[in-house]
Amino acid sequence: MSRIAIITGAAQGIGFAIAEGFAARGDHVVIADPRGAAAAAATLPRAIGIGCDVADPASVDAMVAEVMARHGRIDVLVNNAGIFTSLLPGPLEEITPEAWRRVMSVNVDGLFHTARAVVPHMKAQGQGAILHIGSATAFKGNPLMLHYVTSKAAVLGLTRSMARELGPHGIRVNNLAPGYTLSDGMLANDVQLARGRQKNIDERAMKRDMMPADLVGAALFLCGDQAGMITGQTLVVDGGVFMH
Ligand SMILES: NC(=O)c1ccc[n+]([C@@H]2O[C@H](COP(=O)([O-])OP(=O)(O)OC[C@H]3O[C@@H](n4cnc5c(N)ncnc54)[C@H](O)[C@@H]3O)[C@@H](O)[C@H]2O)c1
Repeated sequence: MSRIAIITGAAQGIGFAIAEGFAARGDHVVIADPRGAAAAAATLPRAIGIGCDVADPASVDAMVAEVMARHGRIDVLVNNAGIFTSLLPGPLEEITPEAWRRVMSVNVDGLFHTARAVVPHMKAQGQGAILHIGSATAFKGNPLMLHYVTSKAAVLGLTRSMARELGPHGIRVNNLAPGYTLSDGMLANDVQLARGRQKNIDERAMKRDMMPADLVGAALFLCGDQAGMITGQTLVVDGGVFMH
């Protein structure tokens, strides 16, 4: 069955790789991103791009209304949008309250805004799959990125609570937690590349770079019928750094 899948922050990086995966299996993809959504969608079959800032509830509501007007249903929501690759490491006393709030507004509030807009439609359909893109850093407690790590730890609670609340409506909620990945944003951040690329290869069981494509199989599985009894779970995909 061809599904309608909204993927936030999918104009590039991990989100775009996941969008490619959905498009390749015949789904209708909605790329929701404030930058480059239409251009990215133009490279995929059956895809549309909608400018959307997940930190702004009105922007999210408008995006979801447009999807419903066009497709009449929403089967999958992938909450991938996040602030990470533009961040520079630093001690907590140098993180400004504004920077803290901005990270939370996208990485945590954004997941609430999209769920709030999409869930009524999924409830009406009696089915749906929501996938959060968290981070393995929530388990490792990496230093010098306190706002980011805290935001991704929040995704664990959000996933579990949403799964229990929405399960009776046929809606599954899971969390895919990547390790250090050479996304477009990461490749543009020289500081994070120097700090993390080789270190992560050294820490992994699998001794190579991890690319966005390495996350696509897990994302498609968790959103698909074969995972029909999997909900409230976090799957770490990091080449074997954190094992739980
Ligand atoms: N790259 C990694 O090592 C890594 C590791 C763990 C988790 N993650 C998570 O994966 C997700 C994607 O990361 P990436 O590495 O592909 O990043 P990236 O910087 O390459 O891409 C991020 C995308 O999100 C979009 N975006 C940013 N703010 C947005 C907003 N307010 N509303 C909608 N879209 C917005 C950007 O425009 C961009 O297209 C993020 O949630 C990130 O935290 C990344």
